[in-house]
Amino acid sequence: MPEPLTGILITGITELVTCDDTLDGAEHGEGLGILRDAAVVVGSDYEDVAATVQWLGPAARAPAADWAIDLDGKAVLPGFVDSHTHLVFAGDRSAEYAARMAGRPYDGGGIATTVQATREADDATLRTLLADRVEEMRSQGTTTVEVKSGYGLTLADEVRALRLAREVTEETTYLGAHVVPPESRGDRAAYVELVAGDMLAAAAPHAKWIDVFCEPASPHAFDADEARHVLTAGRDAGLGLRVHGNQLGHGPGVQLAVELGAASVDHCTHLTDDDVDALAGGDTVATLLPGVEFSTRSPYPDARRLLDAGVTVALATDCNPGTCYSSSMPLMIALAVREMGMTPAEAVRAAAVGGARALRRDDVGAVRLGARADLAVLDAPSYLHIPYRVGVPIARTLVV
Ligand code: NIG
Ligand code: FE
Repeated sequence: MPEPLTGILITGITELVTCDDTLDGAEHGEGLGILRDAAVVVGSDYEDVAATVQWLGPAARAPAADWAIDLDGKAVLPGFVDSHTHLVFAGDRSAEYAARMAGRPYDGGGIATTVQATREADDATLRTLLADRVEEMRSQGTTTVEVKSGYGLTLADEVRALRLAREVTEETTYLGAHVVPPESRGDRAAYVELVAGDMLAAAAPHAKWIDVFCEPASPHAFDADEARHVLTAGRDAGLGLRVHGNQLGHGPGVQLAVELGAASVDHCTHLTDDDVDALAGGDTVATLLPGVEFSTRSPYPDARRLLDAGVTVALATDCNPGTCYSSSMPLMIALAVREMGMTPAEAVRAAAVGGARALRRDDVGAVRLGARADLAVLDAPSYLHIPYRVGVPIARTLVV
């Protein structure tokens, strides 16, 4: 018999989706590294250190552990990695959503409404709104979340958003270059200088990443030169790079992201062949946000084209009050399968290990020895039920 382990033995796993394509003895046909009738031991020797995977394999060969949980016939997979959200905001834009459903196009102009409401909210209100949104995500299987600022757009309000975001995640992103705020419309250049100068200096200690809404098709967002200026300043300040690009039309975002070595370029809805080639030849992840197309009534990105070209694809919610107020990674998987040409296996990979790659993390997004024990469990026997049971809350974070 193997030695007993310190930790919790989890059994009753009909299907363990590891997303580890090197795991011995797993089914690798669909790229998910599946073990059937599996067990996992999770544990940590220290109270303040996140639990990690101590053992995984067939249940029949599982070691004993201090505690045991029997899931009684459920699928387990890596917790989802939601690598793109804007969770620090106040206010309501449901009327804008209704107007869009009636035919009004999205151009980013509504962001100013949220900026005003967010500036007016006190810290306690924003903290509660943020915590509730993170909890909503956890209850649907998300275990890692990136959170952007971008609804403050003054030095003090951007720093406040990042401080609050840091209370819930280490994956914080400075998005002072979300849009030009209304009070700066007369002098865009001065706003760009602020974002790349004093505001960046104040924000950088609270951020891991910097992002720019690079979208010349929107009068509110930033062109290639402005985006390059902000991103290179961010890189010089020690931040990793992310880009919102090619959402509303063809544009420079993808090429700029690849050229600067950004970890991810997000949206990728309108791509030329050159954009796809650049992504295939670089190490920038293409993060697709199908909830945005759903909630703005727009054409979906062509995930199949990207996957066939060998591009690493991630799925994320973009949870925000304007283009997609959904926190549901299972919904993103269902949309990717139904509308974007991804297989269920590709979509699950993109929502877990794809998101991890977009955040340049290898300790999340896969169930493997030594990785964080961030697990999602389904009230279902197989991952196929995620898109199949669309709209039904079968996924949740496994709390051990
Ligand atoms: O990722 N595109 C820019 N920013 C957000 C939307 C923000 C908003 O409309 O409030 C996005 O879609
Ligand atoms: Fe976004």
